[in-house]
Amino acid sequence: MNFYILTLFPEMVRNALNTSIIGKASKKGYLNIEAVNIRDYTADRHQKADDYPYGGGAGMVMQAQPIYDAYCALKEKIGYIPRTVYLTPQGPTFTQHMAKEMAQEDSIVFLCGHYEGVDERVLEEIVTDYVSIGDYVLTGGELPAMVMVDAISRMVPGVLTNETSGQSESFEGNLLEYPQYTRPYQWNGKAVPEVLMSGDHRRIEMWRREQSILRTKKYRPDLLKTAELTIKEKALYQVNDEKSGE
Ligand code: ADE
Repeated sequence: MNFYILTLFPEMVRNALNTSIIGKASKKGYLNIEAVNIRDYTADRHQKADDYPYGGGAGMVMQAQPIYDAYCALKEKIGYIPRTVYLTPQGPTFTQHMAKEMAQEDSIVFLCGHYEGVDERVLEEIVTDYVSIGDYVLTGGELPAMVMVDAISRMVPGVLTNETSGQSESFEGNLLEYPQYTRPYQWNGKAVPEVLMSGDHRRIEMWRREQSILRTKKYRPDLLKTAELTIKEKALYQVNDEKSGE
């Protein structure tokens, strides 16, 4: 899968995505991540990529031309009109479901804004998806783009070495993940739950499922409303059957 990140700070993105699991998957060829410097496409002889906002106000606005030219060069390279994400607190919030869905794409372009924003006209021209990573304001779109690349990459086959580890984890079926333990058996006066030492895989599976439901109920009751629970589980854990969003 190809990720193209349009940014004024390519080094920030390159350094972060070159390490750990994502870096390894890139070296193996499962992912191709390219940071494109918008400034390389400026027509201004001082390499300016921003200017004062029309109508006044604080800060600078990123200009349309360098962004559009950088995008057009990418579109040419990709060979079709790519899915293009603009990172903004104004978009719908990124979810695991969106990560999975976007992992089906061959190529995704991310546009990282900075300063007070981006000239609206270029957004209208190139953006297919507006996405936020949460209700807070960051100084730029680079961290949100990296968050998205990381979450989407995990869903690309081959990126996680243990093929099943993308399956049984938080948000599968809208439930949080169960607690994990490793050696030593005793640590800081606490032992590992007995069931995990039993070797009884059915019991272990049931215990983990129960832990997932109880955790979700405690920490993210909002998720439980749309979680995939059996009628028996709903009764057992006293989960209300109302759907959210009314
Ligand atoms: N740019 C600034 N803040 C952001 C956020 N919360 N999500 C996505 N892009 C952003």
